[in-house]
Amino acid sequence: MSEEKVYAVPAEIAAKTHVNAEQYAAMYQRSVDDPEGFWAEQAEQFVTWSKKWDRVLDYSFNPDNLYVKWFDGGKLNVSYNCLDRHLETRGDQVAIIWEGDNPNEDRKITYRELHAEVCKLANVFKARGVQKGDRVCIYLPMIPEATVAMLACTRIGAVHSIVFGGFSPDSLRDRVLDSECKLVITSDESVRGGRHIPLKKNADVALQECPNVETLVVVRRTGGSVEWTEGRDLWYDEAMTTASTDCPPEDMDAEDPLFVLYTSGSTGKPKGVLHTTGGYLVYAAMTHKYTFDYQDGEVYWCTADVGWVTGHTYIVYGPLANGATSLMFEGIPNYPDMSRFWEVVDKHNVAIFYTAPTAIRSLMRAGEEPVKKTSRKSLRILGSVGEPINPEAWEWYYRVVGDARCPIVDTWWQTETGGHLITPLPGATPLKPGSASRPFFGVAPALVDPAEGTPIQGAGEGALVLSHPWPAMMRTVYGDHQRFIDTYFKQYPGNYFTGDGARRDADGYYWITGRIDDVLNVSGHRLGTAEIESALVLHPHVAEAAVVGYPHDLKGQGIYAYVTPMAGVAPSDELKKELVAMVRGEIGPIATVDVIQWAPGLPKTRSGKIMRRILRKIAANEIDSLGDTSTLADPTVVNDLIDNRANR
Ligand code: PRX
Repeated sequence: MSEEKVYAVPAEIAAKTHVNAEQYAAMYQRSVDDPEGFWAEQAEQFVTWSKKWDRVLDYSFNPDNLYVKWFDGGKLNVSYNCLDRHLETRGDQVAIIWEGDNPNEDRKITYRELHAEVCKLANVFKARGVQKGDRVCIYLPMIPEATVAMLACTRIGAVHSIVFGGFSPDSLRDRVLDSECKLVITSDESVRGGRHIPLKKNADVALQECPNVETLVVVRRTGGSVEWTEGRDLWYDEAMTTASTDCPPEDMDAEDPLFVLYTSGSTGKPKGVLHTTGGYLVYAAMTHKYTFDYQDGEVYWCTADVGWVTGHTYIVYGPLANGATSLMFEGIPNYPDMSRFWEVVDKHNVAIFYTAPTAIRSLMRAGEEPVKKTSRKSLRILGSVGEPINPEAWEWYYRVVGDARCPIVDTWWQTETGGHLITPLPGATPLKPGSASRPFFGVAPALVDPAEGTPIQGAGEGALVLSHPWPAMMRTVYGDHQRFIDTYFKQYPGNYFTGDGARRDADGYYWITGRIDDVLNVSGHRLGTAEIESALVLHPHVAEAAVVGYPHDLKGQGIYAYVTPMAGVAPSDELKKELVAMVRGEIGPIATVDVIQWAPGLPKTRSGKIMRRILRKIAANEIDSLGDTSTLADPTVVNDLIDNRANR
């Protein structure tokens, strides 16, 4: 091993792991030498099929004819795999532990109970005209009904599109329209950190412009008052009292769509990432078991929201396919106080804990005491996801939270990838703080020189691409296959381009360096600079805007906006406030602009292209390394921007 600090696999973990170092090496080799043979075995092991597939893999990464098919011809049902097949052996085992925002509220739902709820809701959906292939939008807080709604969709072959409860009415509307949803499910309100957020009201606003939504199902979460549209709106609890628990699972093709999930890219509006059924489920179940070394009976907790892909794969589909007990948390890490995560760990005996670096960094600020006053002795494995974890936060997580006995799996992946692609396995991989380490089975990462397009061998740094399909990869952009091809397969022919940069060290470990496209990662939330710019220029006083990220202690990246006011408009702090509010209103509170700098002009090339490289440098206060500015149409604008840099 090279010079970095390395943590060996703890002996207690290695003693009873599913995959030790030798097994990882052998299985990985097999997975790349004989992918079809390897994946056929995994598909048999992790999923129950009603009909076996005709062909394990059929694909082309050629942009002129791009397609990927896994287990084509195979038939299965996801809710059957997550529920029915467990009933005989573990019907009375808890499937979901729900921990409310309020520490005095919790619920435990067994596999049998969850099965009954899912069947009932599936029947409610059917009664409202939802059929196989129809899209259903889920706009719910972190309550068990979100899982019930997801599985109810899969039961009848409807395609869900979850919209994170923190998104604005406009964002919700755009997503509902783009995937032509027929039914939306929401709640009266959501609760976070003791505050109530009016979800039903947001949905009402959004649906004013969505004439094709026939039904809005409303879960009663708080009892807060709501307005009612007769004929369209339906109380969840009322509809469920009369619904039958008998709902046979729909037989789905392996390549039938399972869900759409919107995510931000470099350009334009967020795109609907489409995942299909068979390959996704195999991969979700397998990665959940191996990455977390999940052992039967353990309580597993992923703190993500089901509105993000992490919640889809690692709160719901992976754990439930494996018959695990999955904890679902409605609240936030600092409510009622900074010990909340660890109190919940102790209360429910959590063995595996999976969270984001941004949460770790904010807890770190509060010091060790809120952690150390809790026991955490049930913890065995820790996980990280969403952004690069800085070694300092890694060490704190390891030492303070894990008492230097729990391996940390730093899992690199994306909405598009469906599941973990580069990650340590607790019983197999020595850890280097800050490195996502080695590829998962069947994953073929490669580095390419971004300028030359040539592959980088051995140690080096470049654009991170994947040269072979894996079962959970996205299949298309909903309604826009060409955008799928253009976004991921045009840059480096024959490869899927991730948008990330990475370094590979002499031991073959990957160190993700972050996005190398115009995508920001703010507290682990992905935002396109283009989306934020579009929201800013909606303001009548704004002529032009350019948005970049800058290093932020807590958020990883902060949002820095250069704004050119319309001629004759006097820049003011009021206008700044209006702009911040405007972007939050258009996208949601996750898109809170941190810094606005008035820019009389933006650095552009002679052909009018904004040189973001320069804007990034100024925002990062790296003015000594601006690089070549000679190609600018008007190099003097740079001096103005430097002189008037905003305070942060
Ligand atoms: O830049 C990478 C970063 O998050 C991006 C994917 O964001 P999203 O689709 O929202 O999915 C987040 C949860 C999977 C990636 O392109 N990212 C995610 N995990 C890591 C990471 N960067 C470094 N290390 C990670 N472990």
